[in-house]
Amino acid sequence: MAKEVRLIVLISGNGSNLQALLSACDTGQISANILGVLSNRSEAYGLRRAEKYNIPTIVFHRLTNRADYDEDLGNLVATFKPDWIILAGWMHILSMKFLEKFPNKVVNLHPALPGQFPGTKAIERAYTAYQQGQIEQTGIMVHLVPDEGVDDGPVLATQTVPILPDDSVASLAERMHQTEHALLVETVRKLVVGEIDVKALSN
Ligand code: GRF
Repeated sequence: MAKEVRLIVLISGNGSNLQALLSACDTGQISANILGVLSNRSEAYGLRRAEKYNIPTIVFHRLTNRADYDEDLGNLVATFKPDWIILAGWMHILSMKFLEKFPNKVVNLHPALPGQFPGTKAIERAYTAYQQGQIEQTGIMVHLVPDEGVDDGPVLATQTVPILPDDSVASLAERMHQTEHALLVETVRKLVVGEIDVKALSN
């Protein structure tokens, strides 16, 4: 029998990308089990989404300094023996205290193309840049997180997203979210079946 692939998902909010992963694992589109969903915010709606699938949820508030928090978080996540740790709207920059425990296993989703708009409000900043004639399109990326670089690291997948002349921030955001749900699911599917050679990417 094939080895069970173990996923842990870290979230901070709505969890629509988590929902895409939950559905894909449930239907078998992704051949993996989500063993736990962890949030740094108790009000994160994604926790409710996980509960509907009877997946254990953990709220892990930051009560200590960053280094201690990341070390404790890493120890907690390690108890699940994850193959992959998916950051799906996780709003805390992980330090090496966490990352050194999971080389080539931490995957982040960011609503911008590589090198563009790192950090928060990437969709709004892309919209403004479009209005100012600086860009014609934006996009989504999924990447490995080897170090503390923000929304930076070996790229696993990208998808461009058009910005239309009559877009509002809301209509662009809707198109971005639809695109990221599909790209995240497809990228995790490929990782799980070994279609992406992560070690080659990170060398
Ligand atoms: C997504 O746009 C993701 O790319 C960004 O935060 C947002 C999270 O959305 N990092 P959700 O919580 O998955 O709905």
